[in-house]
Amino acid sequence: MKIVVIGGTGLIGSKLVARLKQQGHEPVAASPKSGVNAVTGDGLAAALAGADVVVDVANAPSWEPAAVLAFFERSSKNLVATEAAAAVKHHVALSIVGAERSPGNTYFRAKLAQETIIKSSPVPYSIVRATQFFEFLGAIAEMGANDGKIVVPSALFQPIAADDVAARLAEVATGKPLNGTIDIAGPEKAPFNEFIARRLKASGDTRPVVGDPKTPYYGSLIDDTSLNPLGEARLGATSLAAWLANF
Ligand SMILES: NC(=O)c1ccc[n+]([C@@H]2O[C@H](COP(=O)([O-])OP(=O)(O)OC[C@H]3O[C@@H](n4cnc5c(N)ncnc54)[C@H](OP(=O)(O)O)[C@@H]3O)[C@@H](O)[C@H]2O)c1
Repeated sequence: MKIVVIGGTGLIGSKLVARLKQQGHEPVAASPKSGVNAVTGDGLAAALAGADVVVDVANAPSWEPAAVLAFFERSSKNLVATEAAAAVKHHVALSIVGAERSPGNTYFRAKLAQETIIKSSPVPYSIVRATQFFEFLGAIAEMGANDGKIVVPSALFQPIAADDVAARLAEVATGKPLNGTIDIAGPEKAPFNEFIARRLKASGDTRPVVGDPKTPYYGSLIDDTSLNPLGEARLGATSLAAWLANF
């Protein structure tokens, strides 16, 4: 099966391409580095010719509110239009668990716009919503750096390893379109600050980590229900301890 991975050079994309190749599929990593730009449309029609499936795991270079919204809107519109013209049978996209539950989070708003475009397109689709990646915990910590401390929310959090995200995406991409959305999350749920403290400790960072319910996550206050699956969800196999052991 020819599977074009838009954003195939990124964190998730490169893991997904390797996994699909190992499974005997014909993945194509498409991104600006290989001359395929989903925002401008450059190289898209040629890359999608003869593709059975397209998986979109591209990410915006700028998370400035207007830029990130324009990125996900333009890229998603270009992708579904080019897929429809090329008779692609399945569009798979990676989104975020609870994106609608953090109204002040402009990145999440852009992901919701992406989901809306996919759902209203004629191309059969599957949307996989993941929680935050373990690989992202260091960057989250830095956003909370304040006077020698790290201040982050204290609500429950359920992050997942990028390898587990790629494994589930590979399964979905090689299956029938769901024409719906599934949630995936990590195997453990604990206060946000605990995950951040464990991640920093593993890299020898001694800054104290403070959990504060009044500290927002990307512009939105969060509670125990904001970022975690509320209904059925498939859980990744990798615990934070196992992931940190190879960190
Ligand atoms: N971070 C999280 O915790 C989290 C949680 C849930 C879902 N997600 C979603 O997961 C997805 C993948 O994230 P990631 O961390 O793997 O991303 P990443 O490592 O930042 O990789 C971004 C990819 O997007 C490509 N790209 C950038 N601009 C493009 C364009 N105009 N056209 C086509 N491709 C373009 C890049 O290509 P080049 O290498 O050529 O620049 C790169 O391959 C994102 O959609 C994100 O919203 C993230």
